[in-house]
Amino acid sequence: MILGFIGIGNVGFAIADSLQKKGHHIIIAHDNIGSESVLKAQSKNKNFEALPIQEAIDKADVLFLATPFFENESILKPIDFRSKTLVDCTNPVGKGISHGLASEMSGAEKVQEWAPTANVVKAFTIYGFENLIDSNFSNYDTKPVMLIAGNSETAKKEVTSLTNDLGFYVKDTGSLDQALHLEHMTLLWVKMVRRDGHHPNFVWGYLER
Ligand SMILES: NC(=O)c1ccc[n+]([C@@H]2O[C@H](COP(=O)([O-])OP(=O)(O)OC[C@H]3O[C@@H](n4cnc5c(N)ncnc54)[C@H](OP(=O)(O)O)[C@@H]3O)[C@@H](O)[C@H]2O)c1
Repeated sequence: MILGFIGIGNVGFAIADSLQKKGHHIIIAHDNIGSESVLKAQSKNKNFEALPIQEAIDKADVLFLATPFFENESILKPIDFRSKTLVDCTNPVGKGISHGLASEMSGAEKVQEWAPTANVVKAFTIYGFENLIDSNFSNYDTKPVMLIAGNSETAKKEVTSLTNDLGFYVKDTGSLDQALHLEHMTLLWVKMVRRDGHHPNFVWGYLER
């Protein structure tokens, strides 16, 4: 598939690099294709193409959003996503590692509001980027779980397939309003690791009987 990435820093690069190595074509979407993070990503993976945002969206099958959350409104509002899938990897993090929208609604629902022409799926947010660079936990029988949420079943199927490619077991948690709870799982992970010193290579598992 052709995959477009708005944001190619820690998170965007980790996902894009892994998916490129699985055979997907990656386009970095940035209106300044000479920006530092674009050049750094291209120096680390020579197969990445870079295009202005709308051109990248027009060419890509699926888009990923991996930008600082509070930049999203200005980035997204001018874009026509042409009903494509937009994977929201961003987290609204506020002061003191709190929910940046005061837990009143999810960041993903805001992203959907700012990008009404996209089918937004929340994914890749419940861990730090360390587990996106390498999701191999082959010392266990269970794969790490990736929890996703979204309103479009078709979009969630696309995201499930790509996320499986990266070695995750995918659990669909339901409609996009579930993203609020995923964002709180993020805060739990972030406080445990970034604040309290737990090892970053720990993941959640899904067991059912
Ligand atoms: N870090 C983690 O472990 C982690 C894990 C899960 C989710 N998240 C979430 O993922 C998002 C990204 O985090 P990160 O750590 O990857 O951040 P980062 O390393 O700072 O990368 C941010 C990226 O967004 C790009 N960007 C900023 N403004 C842009 C614009 N107007 N147009 C296009 N690209 C733009 C930056 O490019 P330039 O600077 O070159 O413009 C850079 O490539 C955040 O919302 C974060 O909360 C983070």
